[in-house]
Amino acid sequence: MTTPQPPTIQAPAYVKNTKLIAWVSEMAALCKPAHIHWCDGSQEEYDQLCQQLVDAGTFKKLNPAKRPGSYLAWSDPSDVARVEDRTFICSEHEADAGSTNNWMAPAQMRQTLQPLFDGCMRGRTMYVVPFSMGPLGSPIAHVGVELSDSAYVAVNMQIMTRMGKAVYDVIGADGEFVPCMHTVGAPLAEGEKDHTSWPCNPDTKYIVHYPETREIWSYGSGYGGNALLGKKCLALRIASKMGKDQGWLAEHMLILGVTNPEGKKYHVAAAFPSACGKTNFSMLVPPDAFEGWKVTTIGDDIAWIKPQPDGSLRAINPEAGYFGVAPGTNYHTNPNCMASLDKNVIFTNVALTDDGDVWWEGMEKDSGSIPAHLLDWQGKDWTPEDGKAGRKAAHANARFTVAATNNPALDEAWDDPAGVPIDAFIFGGRRSSTVPLVTEARNWTEGVYMAATMGSETTAAAFGAQGVVRRDPFAMLPFMGYNMSDYFQHWLDLGAKLQAQGAKLPAIYCVNWFRKNAEGKFVWPGYGDNMRVLKWMIDRLENQVSGTETMFGIAPQYGEINWQGLDFSAAQFDSVTSIDRAAWQEEFQSHSAHFDQLGERLPAALRQVRQALEERLAG
Ligand code: GTP
Ligand code: SPV
Ligand code: MN
Repeated sequence: MTTPQPPTIQAPAYVKNTKLIAWVSEMAALCKPAHIHWCDGSQEEYDQLCQQLVDAGTFKKLNPAKRPGSYLAWSDPSDVARVEDRTFICSEHEADAGSTNNWMAPAQMRQTLQPLFDGCMRGRTMYVVPFSMGPLGSPIAHVGVELSDSAYVAVNMQIMTRMGKAVYDVIGADGEFVPCMHTVGAPLAEGEKDHTSWPCNPDTKYIVHYPETREIWSYGSGYGGNALLGKKCLALRIASKMGKDQGWLAEHMLILGVTNPEGKKYHVAAAFPSACGKTNFSMLVPPDAFEGWKVTTIGDDIAWIKPQPDGSLRAINPEAGYFGVAPGTNYHTNPNCMASLDKNVIFTNVALTDDGDVWWEGMEKDSGSIPAHLLDWQGKDWTPEDGKAGRKAAHANARFTVAATNNPALDEAWDDPAGVPIDAFIFGGRRSSTVPLVTEARNWTEGVYMAATMGSETTAAAFGAQGVVRRDPFAMLPFMGYNMSDYFQHWLDLGAKLQAQGAKLPAIYCVNWFRKNAEGKFVWPGYGDNMRVLKWMIDRLENQVSGTETMFGIAPQYGEINWQGLDFSAAQFDSVTSIDRAAWQEEFQSHSAHFDQLGERLPAALRQVRQALEERLAG
């Protein structure tokens, strides 16, 4: 018996890649879409797809006088965030996925997905979405092609990546690309029309990665990182494995430039877990006391970092847009972000005002009042009374999609294929107690320890419980494409290698903007005032301040921080920097349990650091 060959499909003349054409044919035969649309990435295509989404009820066009070129989508209530419990790393060996990942053998997963993908795009259009993560043709960049039955995905990918025709030139006739399969998992029967404006599969979701063969298969969700496969799936989970194999790093980090009044520029990469302040920090506006200082954005979520022959580390932002958290964003917390959202934005799951604009919790700080009436993110009437009763108008994980070029603080090197040199790494979780405002690791290994043991209270960025402390090493727990312990070793090895080259390693800092007082209020003002901490870090790089030695690294003395324009007493400072011995004894127990859970591949050096820190705490 011969296996039936998939029908050959008609690719546009500019598509020359034979592997791509064969793959699209094969996937079309499997998914059985009604149409195939090869995206060219043009403005006309974007406008036409947006109009189609408006006609389908998925998009509402916002009032062009208030929010030109912008749209609002409301998702299905079952599809509002990444689904970590449905995310799989399918390496050949379970140990290579490690204890922090869901695992299934590749063959078994392929068998599981086969019937789900068979006919999954019936009645829909399959969009062929070619994209580059990183500047087109850059030696650091990687190309992906996403096949998706969601026009919402296609237009979001247009903003979030370098998407379009030019990508076909990059891969030419035989260039490599990462194949990314995506379906909302809601096929339509013959003649059936969508009965919902957000098709998805409320019962079955799979976000699957084959790190060894570099493939992504996503089923059942249309939301964010589940569906925009260039982002977490490719640029973090698959790329982390590429980085391990090839000697570089793919990190859940923002990248910013900070320039002092004399014009000297530093670059910092910071890893904070989801919804813990990366976008905010990357667009920071320094307080008035920092006249002449400038912060510029290279990236707000992901960094690809490559060691150079001279021992330096250079980083690029593989993305071209921001898929950022809306609630809490306003002109006080993040004016650059608000300015970015003036026009040409796709909003998802925020509220709609009566005059056709958007609203979310936190905006009242700008306008001074809460609108008397809104439609909430589920399209239901909403008044301030509902807010008082605890019903949010915008979903807590409501987001905006916007091009990086909308950002007034965009760094001039944001698109530079060579990337920017990293001077410091920052790691910071959301901890209402225990972890101090800022400390500097005494050496690379201690810094890796701080990152490896980072804890954070969970947020609405992932489906599930909120506010419980979980270990989120390097802010990568949901995004690791291989064994977490091997990843720690990869960081240790990289440091050792650069040091052997005689390089000065970037400094490593641990921060916590989120300590709370007895009333449950944040003590540290955060946002723009984080500049005060950033400036102290730079002073440390320049050896201008000595800090003070603590159990958990080097901390600032009260007098080493510029307090101009902020009323923050030494007592308040103490309340965000103090080290509570009992809390830390518990903390170290939790680190131990975390290490035990990570298993036998955990680098011995990290247990040694814990022991040394515990001795300091006792001593
Ligand atoms: P992802 O896109 O999920 O990776 O999130 P992110 O790390 O970019 O987080 P983002 O900057 O969007 O901030 C998420 C939430 O944290 C928002 O509600 C912010 O208002 C809040 N936030 C950000 N920075 C600070 C800060 O310095 N202090 C406090 N208290 N809250 C902050
Ligand atoms: C995150 O959760 O860290 C995000 C949002 O950046 S999503 O793209 O949905 O993963
Ligand atoms: Mn993120």
